[in-house]
Amino acid sequence: MRINQHYQKIFNSSNESLFIQKIYSEITKLLSENLSLSLREARLEARFIIEHTLKVQHQYLIKNSNELIKPEKFKKIMGYVKERLSFKPLAYILKEWKFYDMKFFVNSHVLIPRQDTELMIDLILNNYQKKENLTILDLGTGSGVIGIVLASKFKKAKVLLTDLSSKALFITKKNIFFHKLKNISTLKSDWFEKISNKKFDLIVSNPPYINKIDTHLKNKELLFEPKNALISEQKGYADITKIIKLSPNFLKSNGALYIEHGYNQSRKVKELFQKNNFIKIKQKQDINKIYRITSGVIKI
Ligand SMILES: C[S@@+](CC[C@H](N)C(=O)[O-])C[C@H]1O[C@@H](n2cnc3c(N)ncnc32)[C@H](O)[C@@H]1O
Repeated sequence: MRINQHYQKIFNSSNESLFIQKIYSEITKLLSENLSLSLREARLEARFIIEHTLKVQHQYLIKNSNELIKPEKFKKIMGYVKERLSFKPLAYILKEWKFYDMKFFVNSHVLIPRQDTELMIDLILNNYQKKENLTILDLGTGSGVIGIVLASKFKKAKVLLTDLSSKALFITKKNIFFHKLKNISTLKSDWFEKISNKKFDLIVSNPPYINKIDTHLKNKELLFEPKNALISEQKGYADITKIIKLSPNFLKSNGALYIEHGYNQSRKVKELFQKNNFIKIKQKQDINKIYRITSGVIKI
């Protein structure tokens, strides 16, 4: 096995090989040659593995690149690399991931937080004053990233995080506890089913939206993520449609819905917003210039 030969080679050679810088470049090479990662992505993952094992921040690695890594730490690092080479996503290996610069626990019952979703936070932070007493509902919260970041930015807000999966909500609660937030509650609910007689200023959601025949689902890393977090019936539109249709009943006047959707769904999502009486509909592009977030305001 390639990894074993490589591992032995580094481990048996002189102490010089165990310098942080050397390990960093060897792991980067291993990851980029064996996984479908760009050099930049491989470098980032190598960095995360070393930082996680040594329990240090990025600045430490930069300043101490000539420091020796102890053999037991090195073994641990190579254990992570070995696991990663089986295509298991790094977030599930390290059991934590960063979102909007905050740490979140994750496991295989929750979607790995994506950078794309950070765009929704940017938009909301631009559109609302931090001092506002907002009521916010995060539908399909998973690890809780969207709602928890909003609760930490809008300290006066009251945020409700919901999901259908009890196993996902276990992780949500762990993250709420970790971030010591008191302005959050959680609820197990099939979308709006258990949310009776409540109206919100803001509803946010990153629901499942992938068409079950989408070839991206064959990606070996996606196979590790929960299907119910990724796939939606009706060519990917079943959950998005339900949320857009029902949201007006749960929004205050001037309340807004922000929803994340797939790379090829913006036109249809905009139509759904229009059909369901939303006004001030806005769509935002990600860094690849693809519309990924649609928002609208309801005038009741
Ligand atoms: C794409 S993930 C998003 C997770 C998280 N909000 C994020 O952005 O990383 C979708 C989430 O919706 C949840 N979900 C799927 N069907 C649901 C339903 N019928 N009602 C409530 N939540 C549901 C899944 O369990 C999953 O946690």
